[in-house]
Amino acid sequence: MNEKQRLESQQIKQSDSTDVKSEPNRNLDRLKKLSSDELISKYFQTTYEPPNLKKARSRRKKDVDIHYDFDIPLEMRAVGKGKKFLIRTYGCQMNEHDTEVMAGILTNMGYQSTDSTDDADIILLNTCAIRENAENKVFGEIGHLKPLKTENPDLIIGVCGCMSQEESVVNRILKKHPFVDLIFGTHNIHRLPKLINEAMFGKEMVVEVWSKEGDIIENLPKVRNGKIKAWVNIMYGCDKFCTYCIVPYTRGKERSRRPEDIIQEVRHLAAQGYKEITLLGQNVNAYGKDLDIDYGLGDLMDEIRKIDIPRVRFTTSHPRDFDDHLIEVLAKGGNLLDHIHLPVQSGSSEVLRVMARRYTREDYLELVRKIREAMPNATLTTDIIVGFPNETDEQFEQTMSLVEEVGFESAYTFIYSPREGTPAAKWEDNIPMEVKKERLQRLNALVNKQSAEAMKHYEGKTVKVLVEGESKKDPDVLSGYTERNKLVNFKGPKSIIGEIVEVKITNTKTWTLDGELVESAVEVN
Ligand code: SAH
Ligand code: SF4
Ligand code: F3S
Repeated sequence: MNEKQRLESQQIKQSDSTDVKSEPNRNLDRLKKLSSDELISKYFQTTYEPPNLKKARSRRKKDVDIHYDFDIPLEMRAVGKGKKFLIRTYGCQMNEHDTEVMAGILTNMGYQSTDSTDDADIILLNTCAIRENAENKVFGEIGHLKPLKTENPDLIIGVCGCMSQEESVVNRILKKHPFVDLIFGTHNIHRLPKLINEAMFGKEMVVEVWSKEGDIIENLPKVRNGKIKAWVNIMYGCDKFCTYCIVPYTRGKERSRRPEDIIQEVRHLAAQGYKEITLLGQNVNAYGKDLDIDYGLGDLMDEIRKIDIPRVRFTTSHPRDFDDHLIEVLAKGGNLLDHIHLPVQSGSSEVLRVMARRYTREDYLELVRKIREAMPNATLTTDIIVGFPNETDEQFEQTMSLVEEVGFESAYTFIYSPREGTPAAKWEDNIPMEVKKERLQRLNALVNKQSAEAMKHYEGKTVKVLVEGESKKDPDVLSGYTERNKLVNFKGPKSIIGEIVEVKITNTKTWTLDGELVESAVEVN
């Protein structure tokens, strides 16, 4: 399907074509034209489909098109001159990177960025749908923006990211927050110039969300957040369909970028002086499976290893597709760092089965054994969900014992949150909140203890730190991460920001290390 057909068939609604010369709308008046129910039925006629496991599973790789022809329409190239934009980002690194792309597009339209809502002409909320509390935060923020819109009707307020891929969210905004000008989905970012045009000159709220799986648009502009570390997407979407997770629906099908496009981007970043890249995907170990060549993450890392960029990380790994070739390549070291984030979710094989993770406790432990054998110094971190439907005390204890057995040095831990449209949401959320909270507390106490113990090993040792800038708490202190992802605070001249330096650790805490710069070892490169 080409772009034009897709436009016609997949969008919920693309507002009527607009006349650039018409008066900018006065947003608060425009909604008097249609009631919220009329708007909803208009937007959700037949084209939008809410999360649907059966349908989503029937995705086929031939539906993915790669585009190299992104361009900003001539009439939109100077629209932002003298104007400012603010993007608030929630959720994971995917969203952070999408924000960099949107910032790139807006900058190319003449807008400048601002940190303040007071002087912003466009405010975009790049949202996350992973858990209910993530969504509540965004709805709170939308409410806070209303007075700004009342004061300045020309302000454009947009909601994008994963929440806008959910029908219930779009309905709620249409009904309860009609002052929002623009809602667009994760597959619609490249349409931002057109959508802003419609929001500026159209008469109604602009809603464009493709439930379609999305294509790959290669040549989108980006304004990266900083000059030291960079995100590089290697793939988009997820086809794993863990039963609790909304991501396969909000981000579409798994689709890999061509290796040559990724390598070119990494080379370019190296040439620009970036010191660290993180390869991004929801399930990076599935990289290449959808390509028409026999090429996987191990092959890609083996090529990136040879590029002159000091540090390469990747996230997120799924244990199921973590193959021996990748372990072999990672073990070569060099710029491939010794830190693997390997979400386990639960230590019980039975819970893992109902989560549809497609590995058992034993499979996971065997993978950890292989990784440790090849990379004895590797740091392992993980994600864990507690209180999944029917999780028994014994099953939770298995999670505790797995955390100890693997020796995770840190973990993101979550209380299960039912997400509408996922298979697990149909099951009774039957673990009482106090039990969930107690399990979370016990798990966190264990993770904290292990983290503090791991930190103790660094006492008196010298580590290599990529200096990122002033510490958040004290501008006289610099901070940065070690190769194994430990945050280090130390005093030093601002001139070493962006360099990799040696720091001797003098004090260890649960999550951070304090140290002293080893002056003679400052790298000059
Ligand atoms: N793609 C990554 C993680 C994506 S989401 C992976 O598969 O590992 C990040 C984490 O959020 C997940 O690892 C999981 O621990 C958590 N998570 C996802 N859905 C959740 C839900 N419905 N409730 C609670 N936590 C959830
Ligand atoms: Fe969600 Fe990750 Fe599972 Fe994909 S692999 S469904 S993103 S938890
Ligand atoms: Fe959230 Fe979407 Fe990332 S749901 S975790 S922002 S992929």
